[in-house]
Amino acid sequence: MDGDRAKSAAARAARDLIEPQLAPDAVVGVGTGSTANLFIDALAEVRHKFDAAVSSSEASTERLRVHGIHVLDLNAAAAVAVYVDGADEVDPSRALIKGGGGALTREKIVAATAETFVCIVDDSKPVGRLGAFPLPVEVIPMARGLVARRLAGLGGQPVYRQGFVTDNGNVILDVHGLSIVDPDALEREIDHIPGVVTNGIFAAERPEVVLVGGPGGVERL
Ligand code: 5RP
Repeated sequence: MDGDRAKSAAARAARDLIEPQLAPDAVVGVGTGSTANLFIDALAEVRHKFDAAVSSSEASTERLRVHGIHVLDLNAAAAVAVYVDGADEVDPSRALIKGGGGALTREKIVAATAETFVCIVDDSKPVGRLGAFPLPVEVIPMARGLVARRLAGLGGQPVYRQGFVTDNGNVILDVHGLSIVDPDALEREIDHIPGVVTNGIFAAERPEVVLVGGPGGVERL
């Protein structure tokens, strides 16, 4: 099974998993990236069963609207029943690295709002320990130098994502060379550096469910 088919299998399994929770007043949170795009396509097949979506990026908002799915501002949503999104790495404790697509801040906000977070990945994403994928950190532009020096002090090699501006008008540092032994502690430590908006470790906001698509079908972690 190639990567796209595995992602598609996980996306459709997530749609099937959440379908019983859909109701005329339900709001669904939607992530960002190629796997989330496949979920949006699958969700569109049941768009008559829920009220609206909240989105983690301008790109996902556009794709939802093309499918005729109403997109609400998060502040206008009374509750978000479930959030479905991909990831760049998943460890055995279900801690994640996210932000390869640069949408980590809005993703973390919607994940924190939702009652349940369902993560959908292909079988290249589970790892024994987080950190081979460079950790994205969203930074206020004027703090880029300070944050880079502090991240280097933590043992990483931060690389400025050239030519990329987040939906929030900020920049991304991708931190190479981290071996993340304690994701909860490192998430908190990086978030305390002045100028950091969010980092791509999702440990405080771990998904309740991870669906992994692969040659044998979809496995639930
Ligand atoms: C975007 C993300 C994505 O979920 C992550 O990069 C995985 O992307 P893909 O589904 O394309 O492999 O965090 O900010």
